Amino acid sequence: MGRYEITGGRRLEGEISIQGAKNSVLPILAATVLTAGRCAIHNCPALSDTALTVQILRTLGCRVDWRQGSVLVDAYGLSDPELPGVLTGKMRSSIVFLGPLLARHGRAKIAYPGGCRLGPRPIDLHLEGLRQMGAVVREEEQFLTCQVPQGLRGARIVLSFPSVGATENLMMAAVLAKGKTTLINCACEPEIVDLAAFLNRCGAKISGAGENTIEIEGVSALQGCEYAVIGDRIAAATYLTAAAMTGGKVLVTGICPDSLMSMLALLQMTGSEVRWEETFCYLGGKERPKAIPQIRTMPYPGFPTDGLPLFLSLAAVADGTGIFVENIFENRYSSVPGLQRMGAAILQEGKVAVVEGRESLHAADVCAEDLRGGAGLVLAAMAAQGVSRIEGIDWIDRGYERFCENLTALGARVLKK
Ligand code: UD1
Repeated sequence: MGRYEITGGRRLEGEISIQGAKNSVLPILAATVLTAGRCAIHNCPALSDTALTVQILRTLGCRVDWRQGSVLVDAYGLSDPELPGVLTGKMRSSIVFLGPLLARHGRAKIAYPGGCRLGPRPIDLHLEGLRQMGAVVREEEQFLTCQVPQGLRGARIVLSFPSVGATENLMMAAVLAKGKTTLINCACEPEIVDLAAFLNRCGAKISGAGENTIEIEGVSALQGCEYAVIGDRIAAATYLTAAAMTGGKVLVTGICPDSLMSMLALLQMTGSEVRWEETFCYLGGKERPKAIPQIRTMPYPGFPTDGLPLFLSLAAVADGTGIFVENIFENRYSSVPGLQRMGAAILQEGKVAVVEGRESLHAADVCAEDLRGGAGLVLAAMAAQGVSRIEGIDWIDRGYERFCENLTALGARVLKK
């Protein structure tokens, strides 16, 4: 794995056109296997997870061409509904292939996705919902085998938690099921709306995406289509937070402000000038951000768990005390030891962290342990005095397209070694 060398203390200034949403592109690419036609998916970010998803599609027998942000998938020849551990082990979210494969092929065999640094990421809600639609699921030691002897049928499914992945999997399974499926207490994330819009363009009949109840009227087949994924709200928030922490001015384009409203509202509380219109967001930072008293992560439209590590770094340099409560994943605080090495005053236990903002942080050698935690360390290093080295940057490259180049273009001094 490579590392970043970051010289802190420079204001971030400029404009950035935001990448396509990682958390949209993966389920949308998985959904292309539901069609027997050709799909052209635009605004796909050049990320290692996108590359892995392309590799999965090819393993399944699809013809895939990935050119400059567009992935062309021809799933007509889908032949093999089996995903080996060498692929699923590298990306937890590969589980989103389960619903589409079952719907298109009537069976699927998927090696269990490997462990996750964010803590246990169970798939019980995915499996329970599929069972209610008629799937017979066998959980063996290494593989999960699913079959639908009588075909998938619509069902009324109540999720005990609005899981993003389960909502996606069940929605994709339901589009080709017989009859109507109602998903109750489902996730409302913008990426769910994006996936539904793609599926509807392919001929699916989904209504209510973005609300707590989604209704899906099954259809017999889907055709291919052309579609552009939405902008990445977490990447957008990352650049805006960097501006708030360095007293900079950053304009992010290609993003729907509504999708990150919970984060924009909090950024306003730091005293920064925050403005937005239909497709852009702007943040002008002041000398030192004010602390945000309390942040609790929640399902959308609440504050996103992926945003927590970014705001944790912001709190480390803010004026005042901030309290964080993480309600979605167990291990969201991977960046805390690194931030402490930079001089941050953070007390963390379980799901709660208390951060006493410091006037300034100092450079340190630290290691990214997961994607957003790693991004948080980059933000802290840009605000710190001196040269920090961040190891483990492959984690960060999983979610940020051309991160080093983009930050450099905004005036940061970041070298990739
Ligand atoms: C997705 C995102 C991830 C983001 C997360 C929260 C993708 C590919 N990943 O992950 O980047 O951090 O949403 O916004 O879009 N749960 C269960 N049983 C299940 C499924 C989930 O108990 O069957 C629990 C999880 O343990 C967790 C919570 O539900 O506590 C949320 O998980 P979920 O929304 O499913 O997150 P992911 O889809 O894994």
